[in-house]
Amino acid sequence: MQKKWWHGKVAYQVYPKSFLDTTGNGIGDLRGIISKLDYLKELGVDIIWLSPCYQSPLADQGYDISDYYQIDPRFGTMNDMDELIAQARKRNLSILMDLVVNHCSDEHEWFQKALQDPYGPYSKYFYFEKGINGQPPNNWRSYFGGSVWEPVSGTDLYYLHLFHKKQPDLNWENSSLREEIYKMMRWWMDKGLAGFRIDAIINIKKALPFSDYSYPPDRDDGLASIDNMLRDAVGVGEFLGEMRDKVFQKYDAFTVGEVFNAKEEELPDFIGDNGYFSTMFDFRAAVWGGSEKGWYASRHITPEIYKSCCFLSQKQMENVGYLSNIIENHDEPRGVSRYIPAEDLCETSKKLLAAVSFMLRGLPWIYQGQEIGMENLSFTSIDEFDDVSTLDEYRVAKNHGFNDADALRAVAFYSRDNARTPFQWDDSPNAGFTTGTPWLRVNPNYTEINVKAQQNDKTSLFSFYKELITLRKNPDYAETILYGRLEPFMEKEENLMAFYRYDQNQTLLVLANFQKAPRTLTLPKAYKSVLLNNYKHITIDSDACVTLDYYQVVILELA
Ligand code: GLC
Repeated sequence: MQKKWWHGKVAYQVYPKSFLDTTGNGIGDLRGIISKLDYLKELGVDIIWLSPCYQSPLADQGYDISDYYQIDPRFGTMNDMDELIAQARKRNLSILMDLVVNHCSDEHEWFQKALQDPYGPYSKYFYFEKGINGQPPNNWRSYFGGSVWEPVSGTDLYYLHLFHKKQPDLNWENSSLREEIYKMMRWWMDKGLAGFRIDAIINIKKALPFSDYSYPPDRDDGLASIDNMLRDAVGVGEFLGEMRDKVFQKYDAFTVGEVFNAKEEELPDFIGDNGYFSTMFDFRAAVWGGSEKGWYASRHITPEIYKSCCFLSQKQMENVGYLSNIIENHDEPRGVSRYIPAEDLCETSKKLLAAVSFMLRGLPWIYQGQEIGMENLSFTSIDEFDDVSTLDEYRVAKNHGFNDADALRAVAFYSRDNARTPFQWDDSPNAGFTTGTPWLRVNPNYTEINVKAQQNDKTSLFSFYKELITLRKNPDYAETILYGRLEPFMEKEENLMAFYRYDQNQTLLVLANFQKAPRTLTLPKAYKSVLLNNYKHITIDSDACVTLDYYQVVILELA
């Protein structure tokens, strides 16, 4: 594997709407991000991905772009964006924009022109298809529920939207559309971006011609999951290879793909040397927990499952490329609430999760608030949610026969809004996020969980993240942490997540006691030093017997 500048970095996702509001409109903004660059620098971050802040009706929180060349006024101006890039560069921070090109907004000029002339050139930027006997062209279900087809008024046509009906899919088979997209990407790269996070990209290739899936319907709505189509679609690589050759290569861009459902044999094409992308996220644990039926049927991820998902991904990718490891993002519940049993959730167990994730081979990512241990919110009513997919999943649960309370409980745990609650800066009203009314309820635990309380406390989770980052960048260990092989240790031992990271020069051992009960185990050989510990003490006797406390994690250098 070729070594790259970004392998030794740490990446951070900012969700602008919820980061910091400087205008009092209840919505975070670019000036808020600029004012916190030093904070991110202090943490040790190098690469920042901004979730979308382009002009958008915000039907799906900005993942519905109505003008790729404008910043939405709620987030600021293009001058603010230029200043953000410049200020970041001054601090040696790289900025990634979110590239959302499977679809745009129905309010985008292209779509408006297509509606005005449904057989004209702009309709070919989308999928406009004739219905069949007054019914949609096929039976696919959208990710956000209901048919993927929406009627084009005044015609017998329908347009395709794999996501919300305000997110019409762009037709990547059309080379004029592709050139427009590449032009836009180059325009952004010329502004000084380091690259992109690439949204929902596997969906750009459709299985054509559109036809029904006749598998037994997997839900009561009689529609078929879009996963069928992803399985059948062949040739996404042609588009991605072209994107790489026409844009990324020229700029040596850093790119991270949101890739679900990649076929195993294609992984080297995705992130091998000269792959379509630099890296891609590992979603294995989240995917394991999901269900075709809907969130109400999701499976609980135990520490054992979490461990096996991580190890499996590591094995699969070890000779392929460099993965991006996440604990959560803006589409998932908070990782600490999901992967740590509720009764064990505390700063110690949060540190354990941070350490095991950071010590995997790959690029570590922090989603805003993760570094202070932000948790899921206790939602008390369906009216508190803003997220389109949560509202849909609530309907799915109710259609399945759940009563209001059970449906609420089912979606509350998995809601994307858990990760989107305003950032908790301090213990002043609204957690210091806004002086106005926040667009989404602030988690009431902000009085305890906030940056101010942790920043100067050497024992805080925030400081622990700093230590992890410092360790990763320590020249004495970086080579092994970045590139060393990963091998599980005592893999069968329940609730122990332990693994070696080694190369010809040194061997590190991560021991994480993923449970309340202490445990004693024997080290494979003597240890030289303790590189990190979420406790002040560590008990190792002369026979190399080590006792790990409640959720204790240690990183040892072996002799
Ligand atoms: C990606 C985004 C998600 C969005 C979807 C549609 O999965 O991360 O937030 O809803 O794409 O753009």
